[in-house]
Amino acid sequence: MDKFVINGGFPLKGEVVISGAKNAAVAIVAATILSDEPCVLENVPEISDIGICLKILYEMGAGVRIIDKNTMRIDTRNISDPVVPYELARSMRASSYFLGTLLGRFHRADVPMPGGCDLGDRPIDQHLKAFNALGAKHTIDGGVVSLRADSLLGNQIYFDFNTVGGTINAIFAAVKADGLTVIENAAKEPHIVDLANFLNSMGADIMGAGTDVIKIRGVKRLKGVTYAIIPDQIEAGTYMVAAAATKGDVFIKNVIPKHLESITAKLRKVGVTVEEFDESVHVFVEGPLMKTTLKTLPHPGFPTDMQPQFSTLLTVADGASIVTDDIFDNRFRYVSELRRMGADITVDGTTAVIQGVSGLTGATVRASDLRAGAALVIAGMMASGTTVIENIFHIERGYENIDDKLRGLGADIKRVTDYEPIRKAI
Ligand code: EPZ
Repeated sequence: MDKFVINGGFPLKGEVVISGAKNAAVAIVAATILSDEPCVLENVPEISDIGICLKILYEMGAGVRIIDKNTMRIDTRNISDPVVPYELARSMRASSYFLGTLLGRFHRADVPMPGGCDLGDRPIDQHLKAFNALGAKHTIDGGVVSLRADSLLGNQIYFDFNTVGGTINAIFAAVKADGLTVIENAAKEPHIVDLANFLNSMGADIMGAGTDVIKIRGVKRLKGVTYAIIPDQIEAGTYMVAAAATKGDVFIKNVIPKHLESITAKLRKVGVTVEEFDESVHVFVEGPLMKTTLKTLPHPGFPTDMQPQFSTLLTVADGASIVTDDIFDNRFRYVSELRRMGADITVDGTTAVIQGVSGLTGATVRASDLRAGAALVIAGMMASGTTVIENIFHIERGYENIDDKLRGLGADIKRVTDYEPIRKAI
């Protein structure tokens, strides 16, 4: 398996351009199943999760034409076999979106239970609650979720708690249902707004995306459109933290500053300067990093997908910081790897106490999931000496060309494939 080899100590300097948002793109690619005409998607990130989504569509009979690395034409009119291949579905969480889209179009779906980052238990009970509310019956047999509905009738859906995937799947099932659906306690992430904008541009009738009440009036047809995915708020936040962690000076371009507000506020709180422009932010550090307390929350709160990266920054802040992330059962798997690099972190359930140290030192570490991997890349660039990161396939699920982009900012990072002796890369 490929590895990253990083020689730390180089401040990141210069400009980096942010790619399209992974968590918007996986939903919008799946949403093309609901279209009655071909769609052209632009600013799609070149990441492995998208590759898997496209392969699933292709295996079901859709036409997928790659126009360039970030643009594709998808024609789902000829999907004949709405069954998602088992191994492809298990490799990511977003495969659950094929439940809502296939149900919304065919009134049936057979999709293996989703996989994705191992952040603890990740049930889909709220997704099933939404499907049931609209008239679908579900069974789970042999690891496959099967949905069947004679018809889909608009209804009220009240989520027990904020769920991004549940909200997205409820939209998919409701957009062509008969009548009005009202989703209450809906998630408000930017990628939900982007999905609603995509579907409305096709002729859907979705009101209130980005608030906690979303109203959807079912329509009969959705026309094909050309649509550009929004920039990735988490990729942008990752580069903001990396700039601060390496005491660099970086312009991060192609962003929507409003999507970064909670990240910007927290960086400023710990002593990082963030200058905001129309479509970019400028990040640099002049003084010492200060401790803080951090609690992750659904949008517009501080995103859980930024917690491992920000916690890594706090490992060298003055004093003890407290980080609470109870969105998932266990989002601190990366901590044991940071300890190998000299971090002083104690985890108790969903709270970590991070005692600042003078610096990290390079080590061989292993990525356990997408954002944990990103945190280890930041740690490797901060550390003195050489860091080898194993299992980088996790990172490539959600970061387009991360090593190229970081080298462009002055990082000393190389990709090494197993059969090549590590010594060559150092
Ligand atoms: C989406 O996951 C993202 N993935 C995650 O990003 C992100 O961390 C998460 O939203 C929260 O923002 C994609 O968009 C593909 P949830 P999702 O439903 O939809 C529990 C990344 O790094 N829950 O909001 O799975 C669930 O277990 C990835 O890009 C239920 O109990 O998140 C979790 O504890 C990682 N039952 C909490 O709710 C359900 O039916 C929030 O999950 C659904 C969720």
